[in-house]
Amino acid sequence: ESIRLEVARYRPGQDAEPVFASYEVPLMPDWAVLDGLTYVKDRLDGTLSFRWSCRMGICGSCGMTVNGEPRLTCGTFLTEYGDGPVRIEPLKGFPVIRDLVVDIEDFLAKLSSVRPWLVRGGEELPLTAEYAQTPAQLDAYKQYSMCINCMLCYSACPVYVLDPDFLGPAAIALAQRYNLDSRDMDDRFDVLSQEDAVWGCTFVGECTNACPKHVDPAEAIQRYKLTAALRSVLPWSRR
Ligand code: FES
Repeated sequence: ESIRLEVARYRPGQDAEPVFASYEVPLMPDWAVLDGLTYVKDRLDGTLSFRWSCRMGICGSCGMTVNGEPRLTCGTFLTEYGDGPVRIEPLKGFPVIRDLVVDIEDFLAKLSSVRPWLVRGGEELPLTAEYAQTPAQLDAYKQYSMCINCMLCYSACPVYVLDPDFLGPAAIALAQRYNLDSRDMDDRFDVLSQEDAVWGCTFVGECTNACPKHVDPAEAIQRYKLTAALRSVLPWSRR
């Protein structure tokens, strides 16, 4: 038994526009979409380009658009698509480098812009110090630390697709991972309170639906809107 993959092929600068190439691959019960692509590359067409690394939903590099939805291809089984075909495209919202590979530079710059580290207000954390946290203090930020930077939330976000300057769900959730950490003394107000940051979000909520790790960026953003609004009337408040 086999299933047909329709895979977007595109070399910017050489091809006028993306075209879909069809490949028949074995329909195995334990094969993910990524296994199908690997079969194509190994057996049918070695020129196909795509990213992957861990094959177990940890590295975040295998995100693609599968039948119109942003998915981790290593965690999406071919059998989900019945008799097929399965249409595989690069993640929407990002410039294509080649075939299914997108440019992640803008995404990485957005992550770094939120100061994704513990800020101690001039006081460095001594390497030898122990900053014990209670389970409740850990719970306050733990879900945001589960993000694997797969970019599915950006691809699902209609605001980001229309406005690439929007800071976006993962970067705001990452900021909250630190803001809500009891060891952190920053609130990243200068970055997060901008028009293209939390106020750009129209609360569609697709970011949360798309997240394969059950992070809730939509909640992170709405929560920070409240923080930012409070801070504008009570400047000493934070979080
Ligand atoms: Fe690492 Fe899919 S290959 S998340």
